[in-house]
Amino acid sequence: GLLINGEKQGIDISKTLYGLFFEDINFAADGGLYAEKVINRSFEFEKSLAEGGQLHGYEVVNNAELRICSEDVLNDNNPNYLELKTESVNSGVRNKGFLEGMSFVKGEEYRFSVYVKSDSYKGKIQINLEDRKHNYIGSGYIEGVEGSWSKREILIKAEETVEKGSLSIVIEEAGTIDMDMISLFPVNTYKNRENGLRADMVKLLEELQPSFIRFPGGCIVEGNPLDNAYCWKDTVGDVAQRKQNENLWIGTKDYPYYQTYGIGFYEYFLLCEDLEAKAVPIVNCGMSCQARAAGQTNTLAALSELDHYIQDALDLVEFCRGDASTTWGSVRIGMGHIQPFEIEYLGIGNEQWGEEYFKRYEKFVQVFREKYPDIKLITSSGPLSSGDLFDYAWSEIDSHNEDAINYADLVDEHYYNEPEWFLKNTTRYDDYDRKGTEVFLGEYAAKSNSLKAAISEAAYMTALERNSDVVKMAAYAPLFGNTLSSQWKPDMIWFNNSKVFGSVNYYVQKMFANNIGDYLLESSLMDVKGEGATGKIGVGTWKTAAVFDDMKVTDNETGKVLYENDFSTEASNFEGSSQGFYEIIDDEDGNMVYAQTNASYPTNDAIMGSASYVGDTNWSNYTY
Ligand code: AHR
Repeated sequence: GLLINGEKQGIDISKTLYGLFFEDINFAADGGLYAEKVINRSFEFEKSLAEGGQLHGYEVVNNAELRICSEDVLNDNNPNYLELKTESVNSGVRNKGFLEGMSFVKGEEYRFSVYVKSDSYKGKIQINLEDRKHNYIGSGYIEGVEGSWSKREILIKAEETVEKGSLSIVIEEAGTIDMDMISLFPVNTYKNRENGLRADMVKLLEELQPSFIRFPGGCIVEGNPLDNAYCWKDTVGDVAQRKQNENLWIGTKDYPYYQTYGIGFYEYFLLCEDLEAKAVPIVNCGMSCQARAAGQTNTLAALSELDHYIQDALDLVEFCRGDASTTWGSVRIGMGHIQPFEIEYLGIGNEQWGEEYFKRYEKFVQVFREKYPDIKLITSSGPLSSGDLFDYAWSEIDSHNEDAINYADLVDEHYYNEPEWFLKNTTRYDDYDRKGTEVFLGEYAAKSNSLKAAISEAAYMTALERNSDVVKMAAYAPLFGNTLSSQWKPDMIWFNNSKVFGSVNYYVQKMFANNIGDYLLESSLMDVKGEGATGKIGVGTWKTAAVFDDMKVTDNETGKVLYENDFSTEASNFEGSSQGFYEIIDDEDGNMVYAQTNASYPTNDAIMGSASYVGDTNWSNYTY
């Protein structure tokens, strides 16, 4: 009963409708998209969170002594390092890699780097890629490490393909050396960049053709409590100077989850540029995660302390747009990006709600409308778990409709619901006000990686598209899940240390994003009834296969007769008796009503409900 009203043009479909939400959850960054293979490379893991504490991920090779030191450090952001002392030859330390171990591909090169210092060690140090049984599958050497901190780097080729390997560092003579920032990357990262991203994982993102990327989260933006909120300034500049933070998605003692910030705001902006996606950074608004706030202290920055948070947001714009004369512009330029990064959107807070949030949001509005009026501000509205939160946000926004300044450009809505909810709520945005603030559906998913969930998302996405004059942007969430350890399911893309694959939900996103239209054709849904039709299918040769006589289709609501014609079929290009192209034609005006290729039977779902029959039949009183 879908009536396409001629070719009349409906709304323009938002060009930014389909994008991504990258959140550092489920090992999406460290141990995931970030191609670093060494876990706990700077010895900053903590005992309370990680089995083995600051030595988490390491083990002794051949009687070496391992000690964590914190005097004469590499830099203040990196306060621990490893002292390796051996009295026997060929002993050292092994790093086991993230989760189940390191993967290597035969013939590929790996870039090992480390900061070293030593009072007196004059020998060689052997660096080894190892298979599961610790056999060497590739080795190289560094030497001349005597003296104060210096960085060493070598390339090592893997002679075998290994999925659960490790890295060992073995000193050839007895002695003592200090090490920090032990690192191993494939040379073959995305675009072969140093400190790069996993090429196989970015490929799946690239194939989605996202129009935007929202980053870096999620609840990690908020922190739990405020102390460990994501601070973008800790995530740029030399990686050895980036200050590690525990991840709010804490993992387990066996699989603890930290943020080295090796992938940080510079890398996110670069990824947006590479994928030609608009950057949608989210900043903390002076509030920690409200969903986790019960019983916590330090969850809210006082209004008088908000300047610090607002300044962080302003400085982010300077980081993107500033030239070499500015503090943050020069950080970007120093990292190699002379041209500005595009920044058009800014999210204030992740999933915040209520009175305290809007008091803080308003302060950002006042400053940003004056300093950067072109930046679109995204307001948070909380999760949909209670409808009241959204209602509160929208009524708060509506109350500012008459203000001289634009209060909010987009509202960030989040919901994770059952597939049935998505099917029942396809009309959700039909009545949203078209004149004011638009919708950024920043996170949504039908709660499963099943075909049923994916189809319900697809149905819902047709409604997003139909309403994309008000729903301007939408992103499935979360993006990545590690198959061995994840804190949230479902996820769009699954990976381990060597493989990555899209869920069925991924392919729905891809199908929509890759085939986005320019505008809708006006259409309406009718409740119709067909009656009195007699069909003959498959009588005689296939080429004159079917005739439908006296077909009448009536609109049940108005009683209007929509079709009262003879229909006939034409079948052509059949190979054998059952494959080919089949179409049903309205005899009166010659228009094609229905067509099907590769039909094994000429089924008639489009006009007749479901019917697949060879021989005479009489379809009477079909309601569809
Ligand atoms: O995507 C998982 C989480 O869901 C996000 O961190 C948060 O924004 C939401 O509650």
